[in-house]
Amino acid sequence: MSSDMILSMKGITKIFPGVTALNKVDFDLKAGEVHGLVGENGAGKSTLMKVLGGVYMPNEGTIELNGKPANIMNPRDALNNKISIIYQEFNLVEELTVWENVFLGKEMVKGVGKGLDSATMKKKSKEILQDLCMSNINVNTMVRNLSVAQKQLVEIGKALFNETSILVMDEPTAALTHNETEVLFDLIERLKSEGISIIYISHRLEELVEIGDRVTILRDGEFIKTLDNKNRDIDKDEMIRLMVGRSLKDYFPDRKEHTSGETVLQVKNLTKKGQFEDISFELKKGEILGFAGLIGAGRTEIMKAIFGDTDYDSGDIAIDGQIKKIKSTRDAIKEGIVLVPEDRAREGLVLLMTVADNISLPNLDLVSTLGTVKRRKKNKMVRDYINKLSIRPQLPNRQIKSFSGGNQQKVVISKWLTRNPKIIILDEPTRGVDVGAKSEIYTLIQELSESGASIIFISSELIEVLGMCDRILAIHNGKITGEFSREEATQERIMKAATGT
Ligand SMILES: Nc1ncnc2c1ncn2[C@@H]1O[C@H](COP(=O)(O)OP(=O)(O)OP(=O)(O)O)[C@@H](O)[C@H]1O
Ligand SMILES: [Mg+2]
Repeated sequence: MSSDMILSMKGITKIFPGVTALNKVDFDLKAGEVHGLVGENGAGKSTLMKVLGGVYMPNEGTIELNGKPANIMNPRDALNNKISIIYQEFNLVEELTVWENVFLGKEMVKGVGKGLDSATMKKKSKEILQDLCMSNINVNTMVRNLSVAQKQLVEIGKALFNETSILVMDEPTAALTHNETEVLFDLIERLKSEGISIIYISHRLEELVEIGDRVTILRDGEFIKTLDNKNRDIDKDEMIRLMVGRSLKDYFPDRKEHTSGETVLQVKNLTKKGQFEDISFELKKGEILGFAGLIGAGRTEIMKAIFGDTDYDSGDIAIDGQIKKIKSTRDAIKEGIVLVPEDRAREGLVLLMTVADNISLPNLDLVSTLGTVKRRKKNKMVRDYINKLSIRPQLPNRQIKSFSGGNQQKVVISKWLTRNPKIIILDEPTRGVDVGAKSEIYTLIQELSESGASIIFISSELIEVLGMCDRILAIHNGKITGEFSREEATQERIMKAATGT
């Protein structure tokens, strides 16, 4: 082993009941490099990092730090070895403020026995956030009130505050916009120049090409290859081929513009003070309508209002030409509206329940006769969706918590599709989902629209909005700032409207 290796993981095997998550995986990290880690959902990326972070003990294998064997038995050992990990599922305490989270476990005191020095901690937290160009986050805010993107940045700030020599980011940009991602990349360059080594997990291949010095591919728990990217020239197609074991064509399904059906949903002058203003649009039968915009633009809030999850101050919502007062999500579901939320761990899933129960819970009426759940019907429904969305592993009776991030997202989606809804609102449906699963989700959305469902598609990834939607609305600061047909839409035009320039 060459001496500039700061970390060397050798022959790591991790077996969960029924699943070999890692099978003799080798992984190493050079001082001051960014090492990208990529693979399909369930490939073992997060598990490998949890072994490094002392969350899981491997069944086999060794870890060396700076050429010496390291014994990482728990997360504290990892921290003591200057390893910081930003996990895919957030680790913040929702009921504490931002600054309390930043300093959690390393609180500063005014002096021995003199109580907490909250003034300094707040000040330092503020500086850290400023450093991340996030001075718009108030350090006194409760974390539960932050958006997903903001939480992500607080996590990064928290890790930076630790004295760190190895920093792991497990899909840090999944919830970030283009601009926020650029900020993060600048920061990564800076950390690198300060000698920090970074392991960077992402499903966005272009990001790995942009910032990775090397990229390692895992597939089905096995090490496949480490590609050199000194010259920023790895071939994305090769990466995909190594990841999925085949080449992937037809990323987006073919789509003919489809905007001529009858109006299913009409929203008129919908307004909620401080959130969104004067929102008016129509959704046609079978249409896929995109909502593009920056995180925090108000898209999620508008959709929650339509779905009856929050109230609004004024305006009307009409379904099939009739004005409806939707006061609860139950009302919305009765009208045939479903919403697949962006924050799946908090709003979309019951993590301690099985996959089968998560899929069938909101749909028990569909599989019951005279009030009794019919097991065979329920199992069939669950199996159908597991197959349709290629949910892996195919173990319906396993707790959802143990599934990889992307597979959890597929369960959230299937949970709502079982009802054959008339209007489907998808809020960032492909966040954290790998290339293969993404194209499966795209195909599914396309099929749904062809079968007559109308779809609202919120995404911060312009490429996917452009690839999927018949019509696109740009939202900026709670207002509609542009409307584009499929023909007219370009990245530049949408970006301009979505940033209010
Ligand atoms: N605590 C656990 N118990 C049982 N199985 C688990 C557990 N954690 C992970 N697994 C399984 O191990 C495999 C690897 O999962 P892991 O989360 O490491 O994948 P990943 O590469 O991070 O995927 P994603 O891109 O979706 O985040 C999956 O099959 C997953 O279901
Ligand atoms: Mg993962």
